[in-house]
Amino acid sequence: MNNHFIIEETVKHVKDTLTNAEGGHDWWHIYRVWKTAQHLASFEKADELVVALGALLHDIADSKFHNGDETIGPRMARKWLQSLQVEEPVIQHVENIITHISFKGGNHQQQFKSKELDIVQDADRLDAIGAIGIARAFNYGGFKNRPMHDPAIPPNMTMSKEEYKKNNAPTINHFYEKLLLLKDRMNTETGKKLALQRHEFMEHYLKQFYAEWEGGK
Ligand code: ADP
Ligand code: NI
Repeated sequence: MNNHFIIEETVKHVKDTLTNAEGGHDWWHIYRVWKTAQHLASFEKADELVVALGALLHDIADSKFHNGDETIGPRMARKWLQSLQVEEPVIQHVENIITHISFKGGNHQQQFKSKELDIVQDADRLDAIGAIGIARAFNYGGFKNRPMHDPAIPPNMTMSKEEYKKNNAPTINHFYEKLLLLKDRMNTETGKKLALQRHEFMEHYLKQFYAEWEGGK
């Protein structure tokens, strides 16, 4: 089966699977990650089929919504790709991308590395920053019924996940917990450049946000 057909069928499958997904991980998140990954790949030597399938399938089953089971996403992707008779090395590579994309750093070393993973991971991180990233953060905060901002809580105060839940932390704090840190975690040169632009946009946005909060400029 040719690559074009495999990608088209996967697009339909992912759209169907994510019909009821929450806003931050809906089809349009996948669409943006896919398009951004294609853009990044055009500057790199990378396998375009693996990049496309990795991007399209990276959130097919988020462990957060499956009792923390991190094997379900790669397993669902394998089953799907086998049904399209995709070659085994491609399937394995896509499984590895899904398993390792949300690697958070920490104490242990990331065991799997590839240019294709670098690209899809950059594209996923880019969707968490800039104009879209801001929209996703407030959308998520609204979903959790969190305040946007609370001047009594210093915006750059970082909290653990538990404290976050307990304190109903304002969405603005998420910028300092995560979004403003992402520009230094990019893998590809093009990803770094795009992240820097989006980072500067967020800084500008925050400045304006605090000014408006206090009644103007
Ligand atoms: P990933 O895309 O790596 O799976 P998450 O599932 O943690 O990331 O987040 C999905 C989206 O929701 C991202 O845009 C992220 O910034 C946003 N988000 C996650 N946690 C929070 C939070 N505590 N406050 C506001 N936005 C959040
Ligand atoms: Ni994602």
